[in-house]
Amino acid sequence: MAFLTLCILFLMAAGPSAGGSIPDAAHVSLTSPGDVILGASLPMHGWFSGSGPPCSGSLGRWGNEVAALLSFAIEEINNRTDLLPNITIGYDIRDNCYSETLSVWTALSLASTSERPQEDVEFTKISPAEYGNLFCIIGTQSSATTIPTAQAASLYRIPVISPFATSNELSDKRRFPYFLRTVPPDSLQAKAIADILLQFGWKYVGLYFQLNTYGIHGAQALLDLAELHGICVAFSVPVRSPGTKAELYDAVSRLAAFPKARVVVIISEVTAAGSIVRTIEELFGIPHNITFVGSDAWAFPSTMHANHGVDLRGLQGSIYVQLKYNQIPGFEEYFRYIETRDVTFSSWFQGFKDKWMKDNQCSDIALCPIRIAANDNFLVDAVYAFAYGLQDLLRDRCNDTTDCNSTIQAIRGQDFLPYLLGLRFQGLAGKYVFDVNGNPGGKYKILNYQFQDDVFQVVRLGEWEASEDRRLDVNLSAIQWVGGSRDPPASLCREICTSGHIEVPLEEKCCFGCQQCPNNAIVQNNLCEQCPVDEWPDASFQVCRPIVPTPPSWSEPTVVSILILSGLGLVLSLLAALGLFHYRHHVLIKAASRELSSINILGLTLAFLAPFSLLVPPTAVSCRASEIIVALCFTLTYAPTLLKVNRIYRIFDAGKKSNKPPRFMGPRSQLTIVLGVFAAMVVVAVAGTLASPTLPAKLIFYPPADYIEAFCKFGNGFLASLICNLLIVLVCCYYAFKARKVPSNYNESKFIAISVYSTLVFGMAAVPVYITAATVLQKVATLCVAILLNSFLTLFCVYLPKLYAILLARDVQVSEWRANDKTSSGTGSTGVQSTVGTSKVQPVSGAVGIK
Ligand SMILES: *[C@@H]1O[C@H](CO)[C@@H](O)[C@H](O)[C@H]1NC(C)=O
Ligand SMILES: *[C@@H]1O[C@H](CO)[C@@H](O)[C@H](O)[C@H]1NC(C)=O
Ligand SMILES: *[C@@H]1O[C@H](CO)[C@@H](O)[C@H](O)[C@H]1NC(C)=O
Ligand SMILES: *[C@@H]1O[C@H](CO)[C@@H](O)[C@H](O)[C@H]1NC(C)=O
Ligand SMILES: *[C@@H]1O[C@H](CO)[C@@H](O)[C@H](O)[C@H]1NC(C)=O
Ligand SMILES: *[C@@H]1O[C@H](CO)[C@@H](O)[C@H](O)[C@H]1NC(C)=O
Repeated sequence: MAFLTLCILFLMAAGPSAGGSIPDAAHVSLTSPGDVILGASLPMHGWFSGSGPPCSGSLGRWGNEVAALLSFAIEEINNRTDLLPNITIGYDIRDNCYSETLSVWTALSLASTSERPQEDVEFTKISPAEYGNLFCIIGTQSSATTIPTAQAASLYRIPVISPFATSNELSDKRRFPYFLRTVPPDSLQAKAIADILLQFGWKYVGLYFQLNTYGIHGAQALLDLAELHGICVAFSVPVRSPGTKAELYDAVSRLAAFPKARVVVIISEVTAAGSIVRTIEELFGIPHNITFVGSDAWAFPSTMHANHGVDLRGLQGSIYVQLKYNQIPGFEEYFRYIETRDVTFSSWFQGFKDKWMKDNQCSDIALCPIRIAANDNFLVDAVYAFAYGLQDLLRDRCNDTTDCNSTIQAIRGQDFLPYLLGLRFQGLAGKYVFDVNGNPGGKYKILNYQFQDDVFQVVRLGEWEASEDRRLDVNLSAIQWVGGSRDPPASLCREICTSGHIEVPLEEKCCFGCQQCPNNAIVQNNLCEQCPVDEWPDASFQVCRPIVPTPPSWSEPTVVSILILSGLGLVLSLLAALGLFHYRHHVLIKAASRELSSINILGLTLAFLAPFSLLVPPTAVSCRASEIIVALCFTLTYAPTLLKVNRIYRIFDAGKKSNKPPRFMGPRSQLTIVLGVFAAMVVVAVAGTLASPTLPAKLIFYPPADYIEAFCKFGNGFLASLICNLLIVLVCCYYAFKARKVPSNYNESKFIAISVYSTLVFGMAAVPVYITAATVLQKVATLCVAILLNSFLTLFCVYLPKLYAILLARDVQVSEWRANDKTSSGTGSTGVQSTVGTSKVQPVSGAVGIK
């Protein structure tokens, strides 16, 4: 129900005498009465018109529409019964002529109404009584004019709410303590742009920005975010508007200097952006492969094309961030109403309407309605912010509505500001919550310029919202990229490293190449991490995996040979055992002690089995089995041998001295001794393997390879039984040496001597070879060969000749007889042997006999 009045204020200080300093146009005010007055600083006139005085430019459409929108919003609030009932809001709109300097004046003249009675103001249609308290100003149209407005108003501590000024500069609360806005600040737009860059992995981009507060602060915000998110801005070039051709060429030539920066962000108003894009099109031609990411201030393709000569095909694939405007319900009807009604809304509106009708050459406005461009929901939301803030304040300060008039008149800007900043309300643009800097959150539309069948169109991809989670929400499949491609362009200055490589910086700024890691290293956080010695990287070089050790292969010629020899040895042992059993009553066999020989052959059999246990893939069981088999096969082989050689020695030694037979010569006691020794060895071997077992181990190669071998690492227990065995062998050697004087026909002692000496030699040779062997096969083969050689030697030297002799000697009795016959003459080897072995007592006599 606002009663609209056009009020022309003649400020005394700016009267005709001082007209030189303040333009006449600035004395005109569009005012509506109310209990409270909302001030507004909006552009009505252009600043220049040729050589005319300031503010003599033509009346603009936008300013008039915005003024109508303000009036509409206030009337709507005044109509409401739930918002500020019984309180009328009025307004006072003044012209700033798009001028930063005049904005100071406009703001001061508005703000001072709360501090001083406007006695120097001549009201024509509105009485001073109808002019309520003014403690808030809305405006202005841009950041450039809002900055002086906010500064001037802050002198009077009057809050300024801007629906249009987006510059980050205004977020500085030390400089603009009384400023807040309903339009999202550019820092949010920079965030939206940064999120777009991140979404498509564009980490190497170029940046052009206009040299004004919008461009500089927008670019600064983007650069900060880029640094935070690891986006490299290859070049960042300011552009003046209007710039000279040389400047533009220089700026655009940066693109050629950074050919990998295929995405270019332009934060600029439409004029400067138009000249950059046009220059790029000139220099690189139209099918260039540059993707533009644009700020909202130049997302006007028709203006770019019509006013700046930009070929829109050069913008194909570009992505724009644009403020989200919502339709204002009811405004169009309201506008048409003031447009056509007889009572003029304002002299400015009337002036513009006349100009519009003249320009459009129509006599009736109904035939040429003014096109509505200022459908700006942020302005409506600013008016609502004022109303909600006032309501909150009054709720606190005056419960009793009858006494509210005095409270309202006493409100000061500094009382009101906290209520504005503390507001939470649902506006047309969404939910408003102001942060400490007076900035709201915000939403942007994300647009994509496309050509479908050679027709230019702007496609809405989705939106970006200033919330913590999932801010960018776009339909990726709807995007058309530069050149009509379906795949996003790459804007990176780094090679794509294959697995196993790390990125390393190159000399060129922000560019990366690849470097290969050592082949036993994985890549972690772009670092080469060496795997442990027994691990190897997987195919992706992400994790180290244990290397499966390779056991000796049974197809190796060496292994095959060893196995054949072992098999042969087993067969021979078996034959020897059979021969032994078959001729068990034969004098030769008896002479050599059947029991000891049996045990000896058992030891040999075990020794021929040892290679099999050594060559199977090492496991805890196989390793312990090998350890015990090897330890015991030596014991079983050499314990009887020791007894044999000891017996031979003692027989001859005793024979030298007396007729009394040496003790412990019987098979039973011999067997007992051997079994005793064997039992002791079993204890040693088992205790050894329990205390320090032989276990599977890995043989690691240097330099590291993806191949390691498994083998049985002999423990100290094995060493203990080896030492015991060595003692037995050494004692064998001792007696073999002592018995060396035994007549040569005592071939068994000779053969035993050969066997034990060679065991020592093989052992000595095998140990260093085993220790220094580089591969598991060498180690195992050394061990096997040493064991096999020993066993074969024993077999060939001790048993085969005996069996051979038995088989060849046709008549044992003859042989025996001949032996007896030849005893006296001192010849006949078999005879002596048989005599030695026949019985407990006879050998002594035999021995004595030959002696
Ligand atoms: C306010 O109410 C008046 C009277 O009901 C009506 O004519 C006018 O259109 C309303 N204005 C708005 C902006 O709603
Ligand atoms: C508005 O004013 C009328 C008349 O003065 C009064 O009856 C009514 O209660 C007031 N409404 C409120 C919400 O204060
Ligand atoms: C993009 O354009 C530049 C310059 O026109 C050219 O050097 C480059 O090869 C082009 N790249 C691709 C992928 O087409
Ligand atoms: C407003 O009213 C509430 C209760 O309705 C009361 O508690 C409060 O003190 C009042 N405040 C003022 C400023 O009168
Ligand atoms: C408050 O102002 C309204 C008009 O704005 C008037 O009708 C009313 O009488 C005033 N009340 C007091 C208590 O002054
Ligand atoms: C995304 O865009 C494609 C292509 O324009 C369209 O077919 C699809 O329906 C869109 N998806 C959504 C969720 O809007």
